Amino acid sequence: MGLLPVAVAVAIFLLLVDLMHRRQRWAARYPPGPMPVPGLGNLLQVDFQNMAYSCYKLRNRFGDVFSLQLAWKPVVVVNGLQAVREALVNHSEDTADRPPMPIYEHLGLRQNSTGVVMAPYGPAWREQRRFSVSTLRNFGLGKKSLEQWVTKEASCLCAAFANQDGRAFSPNTLLSQAVCNVIASLIYARRFEYDDPALIRMMDLLEDSLKEDSGLMPQVLNAVPMLLRIPGVAEKALPGQKALLALIDELLTEHKMTHDPNQPPRDLTDVFLTEVEKAKGNPESSFNDENLRMVVTDLFTAGMATTSTTLAWALLLMILHPDVQRRVHQEIDEVIGQGRRPEMGDQAHMPFTNAVIHEVQRFGDIIPMSVPHMTSRDTEVQGFLIPKGTTIITNLSSVLKDETVWEKPFRFHPEHFLDTEGRFVKFEAFMPFSAGRRACLGEPLARMELFLFFTCLLQCFSFSVPEGQPQPSDYGVPYFLVSPSPYQLCAVSR
Ligand code: HEM
Repeated sequence: MGLLPVAVAVAIFLLLVDLMHRRQRWAARYPPGPMPVPGLGNLLQVDFQNMAYSCYKLRNRFGDVFSLQLAWKPVVVVNGLQAVREALVNHSEDTADRPPMPIYEHLGLRQNSTGVVMAPYGPAWREQRRFSVSTLRNFGLGKKSLEQWVTKEASCLCAAFANQDGRAFSPNTLLSQAVCNVIASLIYARRFEYDDPALIRMMDLLEDSLKEDSGLMPQVLNAVPMLLRIPGVAEKALPGQKALLALIDELLTEHKMTHDPNQPPRDLTDVFLTEVEKAKGNPESSFNDENLRMVVTDLFTAGMATTSTTLAWALLLMILHPDVQRRVHQEIDEVIGQGRRPEMGDQAHMPFTNAVIHEVQRFGDIIPMSVPHMTSRDTEVQGFLIPKGTTIITNLSSVLKDETVWEKPFRFHPEHFLDTEGRFVKFEAFMPFSAGRRACLGEPLARMELFLFFTCLLQCFSFSVPEGQPQPSDYGVPYFLVSPSPYQLCAVSR
């Protein structure tokens, strides 16, 4: 009997807390959105495995800027070139923050050791972003050394493809391993053989950790962090990411033993360790051992599956569009021939191949919802008011497939990037790396890898759908990253 009044009191209390969290919705000019239910908000009205499709439908109902309530977390989704440009470029500083992700605190993410990707917009992020950009540059972007690493890895990849002897195979694992080796050379100055158990384990853990980021559970735990206080919940969350960090710790420990501060740095880890030495005694610095593992993990996770998934799309689209493949072969034969390997300098003379790679990224649309941002002050987008502290989702897919910009938004059509004279043209709506202050810092490396791996593979092989197998589909499988549906191909030496 006595329980009823308690239950009623608890229910009233929860309803009041809920009302308090949704008071933003009543603010003037707050973007419209679907009606949230108490406690859950719109959590059950959005498919987190396929956010792009959910947002496509909601945009049709509510327009380019609409709001969601994920449990108690206010979210605004921004769609289409104009609105995304306004949010990310015109209000670059106001939208450059990241929402807090309480589940990551259990992985060791804390003040001054927040890595780069999820770091709040502030001095620690600025220091680490600048460090990553300048180290990437010093290790050879724009110079020759990183290009040589990628070219050497591309040769190993071609050799592994040749070992398949023209039989049907799925290229995904080899592509991931080759791309993983490029990041490993940058971070650890070493590459792994494709059958090395350490590499295979790293690939598995990277895949598991990316899978863990998508789905409903992380959303619920981030939106209602008090759930993480329930005994056992925090320990059980993100097991793949914990295992990946443990593996990265092992590799870093090995590296620290051979680090010699009196020798020129071999790689990014050496440069970081020297900065840690310099920062000793400065509690404000983000150069510390905990942050080294966070930055390294960020570069692996942000740089690996993104590039290899794009390459998997590229090969799929080549077997589905033999006419396009033939024109790429022709351009390679004219500009490079068979006597030497492709170089970055060739890119300027290969407008068609360049257009194909851009179109692969536009059509593949692998990070449709980008990484969430957060407003650090009240911000106006397309006449709507987005209060400080609101999570912003920039729908990159709606820009890459914006019907007002692209002639055939839902088709693979390399001519999108060519003018009538066959010269390469780039558009502002080409935004697979996002835009503004938090735009991908790995873009120059990714561009180099995509060009060198793709042209090396097409210089060496003709790719086709294996005889007797049905045409694979060009529909993506939505997850955190959108991969092509599983497929096999045959690689025949040219
Ligand atoms: C095809 C390959 C790639 C694509 C499509 C891609 C795309 C993206 C996107 C959409 C973001 C989110 C930007 C935002 O929040 O607005 C991002 C962030 C980031 N990417 Fe990439 N990326 C690629 C490759 C790489 C590579 C090779 C690296 C590094 C080795 C890298 C490192 C990062 C980092 C560190 C961030 C976080 C930047 C920050 O928060 O300041 N990415 N990337």
